[in-house]
Amino acid sequence: MSETAGAVDALEEKLTEALSRVEARLVEETRTAQENTTEIVSHLRAAGGKRMRPLLVLLISQLGNAGGDAPISEDLIAAGVAVELTHLASLYHDDLMDDATVRRGVTAAHVKWNNTLAVMAGDLIFARASLIVSDFGRELMKYHARTFQRLCLGQMHDILGPGATDDPIDFYLHVLREKTGSLIGTAALYGAALSGCSPEICTAVTAFGEDLGVAFQIADDVLDLRSTAAVSGKTPGADLRDGTKTLPVLLLEKSVAAGGASDADRHLMKMIGDHEALSADAALSEVVDRLAEHRVTRETAALAETWVERALGHLAVLPEGAVKTALTEFSRQQINRLH
Ligand code: IPE
Ligand code: IPE
Ligand code: MG
Ligand code: MG
Ligand code: MG
Repeated sequence: MSETAGAVDALEEKLTEALSRVEARLVEETRTAQENTTEIVSHLRAAGGKRMRPLLVLLISQLGNAGGDAPISEDLIAAGVAVELTHLASLYHDDLMDDATVRRGVTAAHVKWNNTLAVMAGDLIFARASLIVSDFGRELMKYHARTFQRLCLGQMHDILGPGATDDPIDFYLHVLREKTGSLIGTAALYGAALSGCSPEICTAVTAFGEDLGVAFQIADDVLDLRSTAAVSGKTPGADLRDGTKTLPVLLLEKSVAAGGASDADRHLMKMIGDHEALSADAALSEVVDRLAEHRVTRETAALAETWVERALGHLAVLPEGAVKTALTEFSRQQINRLH
């Protein structure tokens, strides 16, 4: 085994152990003094999830003084928990906003209970994240509040759509940076800042995390068309049914607007715009299948890869070694979900 491969294995073992500490703390943080509220607040945490954000905190922390043989500090575990809780809170709200009925393979909270309880559960979980981050000092606490502000604005603009003078694709990419990139960038920053990395590394990994977040969300949009409920834990075609214009749709719309699109493409665009018809399962799955196989979805998947490479470009300032190798692999894996 090469020296790097051995170091990557040791790193993996260390991260797996730390992730189990994150999980134990997540259980604590999604508990309340009453059984009925605990049931709601722990619902989506208990249902699963990939935990990519805490993993990113922990992995990046290995660049600083948490690296090597040093054990991973409680602060870093807490940071992983805080980003996951912030993400979790956003999922309770997102499903309500998107009218999504399934999340992480279970019934969405607003369907299982009701809208008010789903909103309150999300708020409570965000409050728990804020309490944790308050231990990191004023600067990171402000950073966290600003991240959540960006996430909320991103979610609002996702619903509102572009203004008359906005380019729809540039606008959409900005929305992805705000709603998803902001928190993934924050995860990367916490890992670096709480493990004593230099300001230069902190800036670089934040930029890396944000671009990776854009790639991750583009991939998520493709998975809405290409994945199955068994794999994604969500309902395929949810974005189409909800009328969310994700990148494949925006690219198709652009090509139709430019003229010269085929009859089939014009017909497909019409079907995408007919929200009433898409409420029927058969019509929705026909549109999902056509779009999944379409050139615009291949272009979107290629764009996700471009954003991953752009993210990795920010890591040029990092020292070569097991952590950089693992970060590169981790980033590409986020897109491998598309193959
Ligand atoms: C889903 O995030 C919401 C997006 C920002 C795309 P994840 O794909 O990380 O969801 P979980 O945590 O694994 O369920
Ligand atoms: C959600 O984006 C992003 C946030 C939760 C901030 P999506 O609406 O695409 O996420 P999914 O597909 O429902 O997980
Ligand atoms: Mg959604
Ligand atoms: Mg959404
Ligand atoms: Mg999605």
